[in-house]
Amino acid sequence: MKQLRLKSLPSLREAARRNPNQPVSYRTLDLSPNAFLSSWGEGKRFCIRTYGCQANVRDSEILRSFLLAMNMKETDSFSDADFILFNTCAIRENAENHLYGELGQAKDRYNKKSDVIIAICGCVMQEEVPVKYVLDHFPFVSLIFGTNNITAFYSLLEDCLKNEERLVDVQANSDLVYEGIKDFTGSRQSKVSAFVNIMYGCNKFCTYCIVPYTRGRERSRKEEDIISEVNCLKEQGYKQVTLLGQNVDAYGKDFFDTYAFAHLLEKVAQTGIERIRFTTPYPSDFNPVVFDVMAKYPNVMPALHLPVQSGSNNILKKMNRRYTREEYISLVNELRKRLPNVFLTTDIIVGFPNETDEDFEETLSLVKEIKYDAAFTFIFSPRPGTPAYRMKDETPMDVKHQRFERLKTLIDELSTESAKKFVGNTYKVLFETVSKKDNNRISGYTPEGKLIHVTGDKGLIGQIKTVKVLESHTYSLIGEIIDD
Ligand code: 5AD
Ligand code: SF4
Repeated sequence: MKQLRLKSLPSLREAARRNPNQPVSYRTLDLSPNAFLSSWGEGKRFCIRTYGCQANVRDSEILRSFLLAMNMKETDSFSDADFILFNTCAIRENAENHLYGELGQAKDRYNKKSDVIIAICGCVMQEEVPVKYVLDHFPFVSLIFGTNNITAFYSLLEDCLKNEERLVDVQANSDLVYEGIKDFTGSRQSKVSAFVNIMYGCNKFCTYCIVPYTRGRERSRKEEDIISEVNCLKEQGYKQVTLLGQNVDAYGKDFFDTYAFAHLLEKVAQTGIERIRFTTPYPSDFNPVVFDVMAKYPNVMPALHLPVQSGSNNILKKMNRRYTREEYISLVNELRKRLPNVFLTTDIIVGFPNETDEDFEETLSLVKEIKYDAAFTFIFSPRPGTPAYRMKDETPMDVKHQRFERLKTLIDELSTESAKKFVGNTYKVLFETVSKKDNNRISGYTPEGKLIHVTGDKGLIGQIKTVKVLESHTYSLIGEIIDD
């Protein structure tokens, strides 16, 4: 049995305590593997399982880059892996449970090859209880680290291998932003569209949400570093960037600049990269100047994902969302004044503690009034450590499920209506993937972000073509390419 070393343990309370005004420190890292890691990695295979949001996808890309630089090759399956990494998501309970199921499968690999290294990182590992649970129930897991110390990966892996120990290093918080992490060829999941972090963490503390505890306080990257990453991606042939942050409109608030996100978006647009998207904005921080930038630059896509969470002022208050239903609607009106054809999507939580029938009806009426083009809907999932977890909740689960179904039906109706409006029109489509079932079917996205399938070959991946829409379904369109 390997010795357990607890270098640092997560603490939700400590994560919540850090002063949001504490200045951010910027560090430039020159990360490359040393001779020991390169020779350990030579010829070995790694397998990464990523759960959750785009921030996790991007973290996994960075970790993939570290592993590829160690001369390792990637595999999709545990059965020939020498290193297995789980990058976890804590946003809802089912994402967490998924991990425990997959760990059971990783155990089969360990039973056949006892020197396989099994590691877990990501948001679940930022919480005390799951870390203790993993240590007790999955003795074959030998490395645990958090969202705030992925840049320590090489030294952690080296310690874990040299000392043959189970190592846990989860820093509750970080006031650091690291630059200088180089992408190893093939480390990004797409060759067409890239995620670019613009900020990390969240200061909002919505009462249901675990993110401010697992990803720490807001830290913005410097504008020049973001722009140089976008330029570099453009040179490599990337056609699209998606600017990422838990709360993108808080970008630059740590530099005390309210217009920082609008300025940044404009600078990114001026790089001339073909397509720019961003996610996720927070309604009351959203500065309408951003709408002007979206309207001015055709390479900023006419799409906005603006999470509302609930249509009831009573629930919004209990969620600690810092806007009212009326303020949200007036922001959407402002947006549509400047960008009449914007594709508007949202997130909604159903069944927040003690949500009444009236509260829920207000959510339905808001959705009908706004007429979203699409929405992600979730049933409230109590997350230990958040204020909403401690709220008494009298609403039975079957009532929550019924509400969820009603909302889902309404959203699907609206999505179907929205998709019909595309039929007969032409759009510039950026092709991103080939169908797994049919090599002659490729898929891409319209500027609005609507998924579209056409007949075409894989040589078109990464190209933008004019496509006429022939048919619409709820979640996708069918079209034909009309230029060559
Ligand atoms: N339960 C259900 N949904 C949640 N979300 C965040 N936390 C929870 C939770 N505890 C949803 C919000 C957020 C999206 C990413 O996930 O709608 O916008
Ligand atoms: Fe969570 Fe709210 Fe921050 Fe979004 S804004 S990450 S929902 S706390």
